[in-house]
Amino acid sequence: MSGHGEAIAMVARSGAALRGVAEVPGDKSISHRALILGALSVGETRVSGLLEGQDVLDTARAMRAFGAEVVRQGPGAWSVRGVGVGGFAEPADVIDCGNSGTGVRLIMGCMATSPITATFTGDASLRKRPMGRVTAPLALFGAEAHGRRGGRLPMTLVGAADPVPVRYTTPVPSAQVKSAVLLAGLNAPGETVVIEREPTRDHTERMLRGFGAQLEIEDLPEGRLIRLRGQPELRAQSVAVPRDPSSAAFPVCAALIVPKSDILVPGVSQNPTRNGLFTTLVEMGADISFETPREEGGEPVADLRVRFSNLRGIEVPPGRAASMIDEYPVLAVVAACAEGRTVMRGVRELRVKESDRIDAMARGLEACGVRVEEDEDTLIVHGLGAGGVPGGATCATHIDHRIAMSFLVLGLASKLPIRVDDGSPIATSFPAFEALMAGLGADIARVQR
Ligand code: S3P
Repeated sequence: MSGHGEAIAMVARSGAALRGVAEVPGDKSISHRALILGALSVGETRVSGLLEGQDVLDTARAMRAFGAEVVRQGPGAWSVRGVGVGGFAEPADVIDCGNSGTGVRLIMGCMATSPITATFTGDASLRKRPMGRVTAPLALFGAEAHGRRGGRLPMTLVGAADPVPVRYTTPVPSAQVKSAVLLAGLNAPGETVVIEREPTRDHTERMLRGFGAQLEIEDLPEGRLIRLRGQPELRAQSVAVPRDPSSAAFPVCAALIVPKSDILVPGVSQNPTRNGLFTTLVEMGADISFETPREEGGEPVADLRVRFSNLRGIEVPPGRAASMIDEYPVLAVVAACAEGRTVMRGVRELRVKESDRIDAMARGLEACGVRVEEDEDTLIVHGLGAGGVPGGATCATHIDHRIAMSFLVLGLASKLPIRVDDGSPIATSFPAFEALMAGLGADIARVQR
């Protein structure tokens, strides 16, 4: 799994309408942060609804290596006995973050202002991804990074013995970079300030406040300014992890493109920094109702009732990209089943995810008989309407869970089956994907060799 194990070829075929209730797992972003902030707190943090995907399990292992006591008490129920801000011990071995960019970047942030050294690595996908975007601001605190050319893993980070606070404007819209700086700022004296031109997911800010940090947020003409007072004592908390809207995206989009489908996806986050996909789908003509809006685990959530819809292509506003950045692959699938063009601009960040997602989607869609156009920052999909996608191809997933799930969803609505060369990375974020989709009536299977 996650690029270390054997490939699992999978195939999806069109068939029955999707029906039933899709209970998607806990939010990946919030799960990482719950373990990390628990490890930086004093006392015992109890987490419920934790996503037990490989990415999060790798972060749990890393927190143990830095000295926290992390124990699984039952399905999704974990406890973390933290070491306090500045209390991290030096790990005895290399930290392997598997497939997880969020894991490695956040963990680098929270050790960068302690006088310890750690070496990080990951799978073949993670070892290709740029770490300079976090090591550059961490150097301002006084940390030193030694990695491979291009700022790639494996990389050794020497934490600052006498950290200084930092004022940093993120050069790319990235919650991982913002969060790495804020987590580093925890153990620097004085005030650390991060400015982001476009708001990205705000789980770190929400959770830092929940754990007792002093954090102020101002919306200014130049962007969102976040001010953190350093060296707080974080207090252990109970964290109820809400369901992951990025995982919900797969059954939601599947129901929209498989004729006669009608499903319910309960408790999907409507956090405005995460819900861009749902806004976009509604603009495309999706029949989605947002039922029983409420708060769960500090996040606004709703139950989504989703029915098959005849969709039309739209221009997705580039300003919405940060709020749906992980959802473009599955949006490209939906776009292939809509009438007309769907234009996705301002999406260059997709090129540095678990794979180059613009390239992976463009090549896979073409193989399935869909016309696409792309440039560095843009993906345009020429939709073939409901039931119009030929399929009949094998798509390469490039150790990327979201590429694998996206093409399997497309296979449920194409004329001929669609195969993916390797579905094993799905376990990084959505281990129950196959079972959940089967429960809705989807025909997704492993290919026997
Ligand atoms: C995440 C931030 C996003 C997102 C990733 C999770 C996070 O990455 O793509 O899946 O939890 O902070 P970037 O910060 O690179 O945009």
